[in-house]
Amino acid sequence: MLEPFAKPFYITQPLLPDMDELNEMLKEIWASKQLSNNGNMVKQLEKDLSSYLGANYLSVFSNGTVALQLACKVLRLSGEVITTPFTFAATAHSLVWNDIKPVFCDIEEDSFNIDTDQIESLVTEKTTAIMPVHVFGYPCNVDKIQQIADKYGLKVLYDAAHAFGVKVNGKPISGFGDISMFSFHATKIFHTIEGEL
Ligand SMILES: Cc1ncc(COP(=O)(O)O)c(C=O)c1O
Repeated sequence: MLEPFAKPFYITQPLLPDMDELNEMLKEIWASKQLSNNGNMVKQLEKDLSSYLGANYLSVFSNGTVALQLACKVLRLSGEVITTPFTFAATAHSLVWNDIKPVFCDIEEDSFNIDTDQIESLVTEKTTAIMPVHVFGYPCNVDKIQQIADKYGLKVLYDAAHAFGVKVNGKPISGFGDISMFSFHATKIFHTIEGEL
């Protein structure tokens, strides 16, 4: 029988800001008495994120699951979407909540990401998109995925929940596909304790 770990084993731990710096920002929020509805801090965060990611279109949400659900609507996805089973439940749930059938593609043994050699065999006339996940922040084969999407006229919606700060050939990972979602949940390295993009 395997011995339980004496101490918890963390895959990642969240980055935490300096407490005094955080308090100064909290004082600003207290002084504004605006705790919701497009407050100054949210506006500043969106501005800083746009500049960091080089993104022209960007929005923060209450959580990443809602952002994925909305992304399906914005891209007008329907029918079937090819995705991965190796992920958090929210990936497939966001499809099901939009009455879309998740079609699960097997994963690569070494990266745990969607196996791009197996995507094409799952495309049918009902397929509207591919929804890969950059598992543990390791980038999917973005070029191959785009090639397949272009060949069959499919959208690409990335669940990039784990991948904030990741770049491919110097380009932020959100620069690939049609939409990417980053989760800022408290379990992520860069987080807002809750809330996402
Ligand atoms: C791969 C993946 N997708 C989606 C989500 C959902 O993000 P959120 O918790 O911000 O709703 C998570 C959260 O852990 C995740 O790991």
